[in-house]
Amino acid sequence: MRLFMSSENFNIKLEEAVSKTAEAMLKETGPFDPKPYMFFTTLNILGGMVFGTKYEYNDETYLEILNKLEEFSKLASEGIFLENMFPPARWFPSKRFKRVAQVFKEFIDIIRYNIKKVEDEFVPGKITNFTESLLQAEKEMREEGEENMDHFKHHNLVLTVFDIFFAGNDTSRQTLYWALMYITGLPDVQHKIQDEVDSVVGNDRYPATSDREGLSYTDAVLHEVMRIGSVVPVGVPHMTSCDTTIDNGKYDVPKGTMVFINHWGIQNDPDNWEDVEQFKPERFLDKGGKMAPKPENWLPFSAGRRVCLGEPMAKPELHLILAGLCQRLVMEPEPGTSINLEPKLDGLILVPHPYKIVVKPRINP
Ligand code: HEM
Repeated sequence: MRLFMSSENFNIKLEEAVSKTAEAMLKETGPFDPKPYMFFTTLNILGGMVFGTKYEYNDETYLEILNKLEEFSKLASEGIFLENMFPPARWFPSKRFKRVAQVFKEFIDIIRYNIKKVEDEFVPGKITNFTESLLQAEKEMREEGEENMDHFKHHNLVLTVFDIFFAGNDTSRQTLYWALMYITGLPDVQHKIQDEVDSVVGNDRYPATSDREGLSYTDAVLHEVMRIGSVVPVGVPHMTSCDTTIDNGKYDVPKGTMVFINHWGIQNDPDNWEDVEQFKPERFLDKGGKMAPKPENWLPFSAGRRVCLGEPMAKPELHLILAGLCQRLVMEPEPGTSINLEPKLDGLILVPHPYKIVVKPRINP
């Protein structure tokens, strides 16, 4: 991941993705829901990094993956699966469990198909994407007679690529959907981002990683979006590796207990945050208007050894997508409506109420 983040490659992918999205949005002739466009953007960045793919809006492959993601998220958000809490229930799986397993399989098929395409064109030693670097590592380990290679099946490679692709795309697109809701619903916030981008970047090039330090307000907006709109509200399951206690010994937690971290709770606890329900990006800035040290209760990527491994990529990616979209577009609510900024409970998670926007070009690129 570091290899693909550090190079100029990342800025090029960002610019290509944001400009394609802005261009496609400007072709809309009436109000539209920006949700598919957010996936279009992240897919062009992550798909490029993982497989070297590029997509056009209305491309069938892109739409197929989007529909599967939507179905998967919907099925997963409808509640916990009895089959996960009580594995013998898998002998008589529910309709929902069967469908989620089927969608998962179809996802894996898409990943396999893309890996095969990379494999067919792979020239050992020439690494341009994440899949190629895994294929190269596999090849070298086999040649060097690395121990335990019998345990490394092709399926492991497929699942590793799937993990990155799924965890990276779904979280990023949902975060951007929250972000657009706030910057469209709160025009002052949008104007401040635009002023900042104009003064730091100008309008004859796209924002790049070297601009990030100057784009503190935009970064603060992203942090505030991620504080309220937690897209992984209770993280992923963990298991205690020894007997332990929490809350100064108040609760015993035996070894082998499945535990979750309530990220949303930490980030929306009135004891931790002033004016907790208000959208206030300034809370992340110091007196000089620069990003202040990260508050210890801001934990959307979790913490510790299993902290999200995509964090070093997601932060610059989302920061610069927001800056780039605000640089190119004026985003307004559908005429005659206002955007409902109250989060909506959808199954087990909070999501934005669906909303529509209209966009106009800000500058002539
Ligand atoms: C808004 C963006 C993102 C958020 C909020 C987010 C959040 C999280 C959270 C809460 C976890 C669970 C950590 C734990 O076990 O306690 C996680 C794990 C993970 N994330 Fe992210 N993530 C984001 C973007 C990404 C991206 C862009 C990638 C890949 C490019 C990625 C790849 C992963 C992977 C592979 C794991 C599992 C890591 C492990 O178990 O060791 N994530 N993420």
